[in-house]
Amino acid sequence: MNGDLGDDAGIPAEPGPSPRPTEVAPAALRVGDLVQFVDVKGRRYQATLRPGGQFHSHAGFVEHDDVVGLPDASTVLTTKGQRLVVVRPTLSDFVFKMPRGAQVIYPKDLGPILMLADIAPGVRVLESGVGSGALSMAMLRAGAEVVGYEIREDFAERAQANVDRFAGELAADRYRIELRDCYEGIDERSVDRVVLDLPEPWRVVPHAVEALRPGGILLAYTPSTVQVSQVRDAIAEAPFFDASTLEVMQRGWYVEGAAVRPDHRMVGHTGFLTVARRLA
Ligand SMILES: C[S@@+](CC[C@H](N)C(=O)[O-])C[C@H]1O[C@@H](n2cnc3c(N)ncnc32)[C@H](O)[C@@H]1O
Repeated sequence: MNGDLGDDAGIPAEPGPSPRPTEVAPAALRVGDLVQFVDVKGRRYQATLRPGGQFHSHAGFVEHDDVVGLPDASTVLTTKGQRLVVVRPTLSDFVFKMPRGAQVIYPKDLGPILMLADIAPGVRVLESGVGSGALSMAMLRAGAEVVGYEIREDFAERAQANVDRFAGELAADRYRIELRDCYEGIDERSVDRVVLDLPEPWRVVPHAVEALRPGGILLAYTPSTVQVSQVRDAIAEAPFFDASTLEVMQRGWYVEGAAVRPDHRMVGHTGFLTVARRLA
């Protein structure tokens, strides 16, 4: 048992066939599916459906065999009568729960990054560092072909496992991680995008100039303003145009009858997004 969640509440390491990022998932839940149990308080626990498996909570357990074959988003009862909804997790759900070694970029910023870097099917991306693979997954699901440079072997392995787990074979031929230091150079040429989330992105800007095709996009995610200044200085000295920096703020709302107001709490800060385009 793992606290009140049980052995099956975590995410096992083995790859599973779903959720399916680039095809419509089948209606019924199947063995091997990654699913999310959501309790009445909105708490979420993820597990992979296995023959004979059980999902344990503090309010009893659910047999995986009783879940297999149900429609997505079905309601089940634990052995102690607690209601749970069992549903395939979204990519956003997965990012919040997935095993991580490094700090991940969260959905608040992942969505805007896809727009700012104009990630689309077939777009060739050089990404560094890869970290836990959250950004890789978002770009792969948008159809990009991603080569990731990551300096730490343990993080590279974690990212690959997360990508395999979420995207499976659907992304396998579009994703490659190389164990290497991005500050020392980029071998790829004529890539469409260079997307950076590492401590000193300004050290990569000269390499991005070599790697990007004309019109290609450089994007750097940086937590601090000092990093923003340094990366903008490097961009200003290189053949780029249309440089801009922004921060994304997200505020949830409490909606309960006539009580409709902003949430009392919100995420104060994650990072800044700096973007620029390569001149011919
Ligand atoms: C904050 S994490 C990236 C998280 C990732 N964007 C995600 O969403 O999961 C930063 C990563 O950059 C890697 N890194 C740092 N310096 C690097 C370098 N010079 N070359 C390649 N990777 C580097 C770190 O090992 C770490 O995994």
